[in-house]
Amino acid sequence: MKPAVKPNNPNFSSGPCSKRPGYSLEQLDISTLGRSHRSTIGKAALQRACEDTAELLGLPEGYRVGVVPGSDTGAVEMAMWSLLGARGVDILQWESFGKGWLSDATKELKLAVNAHEADYGLLPDLSKVNFDNDVIFTWNGTTSGVKVPNGDWIPADRKGLTICDATSSVFAMDMSWEKLDVITYSWQKVLGGEGAHGMLILSPRAVERLETYKPSWPMPKLFRMTSGGKLVEGIFKGDTINTPSMLAVADYLDALDWVRSIGGVKETIARSNANLEVLKKFVAANDWIDFLAKTPETLSNTSVCFTLKATPDQVKAMIKLLDKEGVAYDIGAYRDAPPGLRIWCGATVAAADLETLLPWLTWAYEQATAA
Ligand SMILES: Cc1ncc(COP(=O)(O)O)c(C=O)c1O
Repeated sequence: MKPAVKPNNPNFSSGPCSKRPGYSLEQLDISTLGRSHRSTIGKAALQRACEDTAELLGLPEGYRVGVVPGSDTGAVEMAMWSLLGARGVDILQWESFGKGWLSDATKELKLAVNAHEADYGLLPDLSKVNFDNDVIFTWNGTTSGVKVPNGDWIPADRKGLTICDATSSVFAMDMSWEKLDVITYSWQKVLGGEGAHGMLILSPRAVERLETYKPSWPMPKLFRMTSGGKLVEGIFKGDTINTPSMLAVADYLDALDWVRSIGGVKETIARSNANLEVLKKFVAANDWIDFLAKTPETLSNTSVCFTLKATPDQVKAMIKLLDKEGVAYDIGAYRDAPPGLRIWCGATVAAADLETLLPWLTWAYEQATAA
């Protein structure tokens, strides 16, 4: 039977993700629009984006937070181009984005890399990573729904730097900040912000590397974080390298205010976990759907990926049907991932909407596989 009730919000995309509950453009403080980003109010807004981020995430003393160009990709590549080459490099990849960082290091920077790879659904063997080297990994693989279980596998006394693409985990998972030297993310993921700028978080060890090592390759202006061998501290205090969208900044500040208003990161993590529980119950009760993640402790609580007992065409038909009904948008697996569904269940998604979606999944599956 076709369910009678539809989710209030059918946005389950894994990026840009659903706006926060209660979001409206009218609530944004747009006093900075049409003003220079270097004016007193423009700079103050950008500085608040850095400071509030550090406070809400509970970053350790001495960690810097900067707004950088090019979203998460910009932040990761800026870190790679600025820091790599001083030591050997280990890169972990188990889905599309990690694969991209590996390709950057080997094909573009032409570095010899110790690659740790695994298929969709799995994690590479974390015990094999050499932390005398710099290590690059994705905390949550958005396209496979597989995350690292925690930071216990990273030694506190490592010699190399850890560079962590955390774009679909920050604000949704417990991050071991002390084990991470570079952390990157974008605004459009867990917080439901706008795609535009990247966030780059640096540990004191990463800053030390920047101030003592100069890569052999040319550095585009957009990637330059030092001047005369010193960190350009302004980047981490609201003096962005180039011009940001102040509308996107206003939107990000609104998202941070929302996080604070609901009880902070503890609550955004709790909401993501509770949302995952809704999906877990559904998978346990239905034999036609399973998680792509093979082990429970690596199962993402943001980008949840599913495999179905169905042909790729049947999966496509199901996704199309749900879209047409206005019940679920953008829930197809990522283009490079195995065919299936991907449902975002970060904190901006309401558990009630997920609950309402589930009978629709069953209905659409039955429709698509009936013939
Ligand atoms: C793990 C991961 N890394 C990088 C990116 C690219 O992010 P952006 O488009 O914000 O640069 C994404 C986007 O989905 C992602 O999920």
